[in-house]
Amino acid sequence: MPSIEEIKNQVTKCTNCQLCETRTNAVPGKGNLHSKVIFVGEAPGRSEDKNGEPFVGAAGKKLTAALESAGIAREDIYITNVVKCRPPNNRIPSTGEREACSNYLESEIKEINPKIICIMGNTAYGSILGGNNITKNRGRIVEHLGNRYFITIHPAATIYNHELLDVLKKDMKKIASIIKK
Ligand code: URA
Ligand code: SF4
Repeated sequence: MPSIEEIKNQVTKCTNCQLCETRTNAVPGKGNLHSKVIFVGEAPGRSEDKNGEPFVGAAGKKLTAALESAGIAREDIYITNVVKCRPPNNRIPSTGEREACSNYLESEIKEINPKIICIMGNTAYGSILGGNNITKNRGRIVEHLGNRYFITIHPAATIYNHELLDVLKKDMKKIASIIKK
């Protein structure tokens, strides 16, 4: 099984799907390799593509704020995405792109072996669990193929909606209670 460092090197050079042609930087997962939780978003946006790091733009600021409100430091956790390269104009990644990239996420999960995987938003929910309707299903814990998942909204949804930020904060408190047990 590849180490996180090896996965990172593979992602950085990857040409397994067409997103490699338009990216500035591939965006491997980042964070604490001993984290009890992995957060999974959709795909890098403009800031992430520019910096080569996940969740460093506006959505990332919301995520950091929600984590901090629950007493979770970003340095303590690991964050990644379903696809590691930015889709042009932030379009939703295609099924083919998600499949081409899925081995990296699987390897990250196996290598870090967290207590729980936090799925953020409909794209990650659909890709990983085949689910939809995040609004209805957020807050749930799901066991699937030996892994435990927690479902929540995408942090980008909270940028212009304060009520949703409260929802995200509430969900982060639940994650905190699970990982601190
Ligand atoms: N949105 C995502 O889904 N992932 C990022 O890394 C940034 C924004
Ligand atoms: Fe490779 Fe994933 Fe980037 Fe496609 S999105 S080029 S599969 S790292």
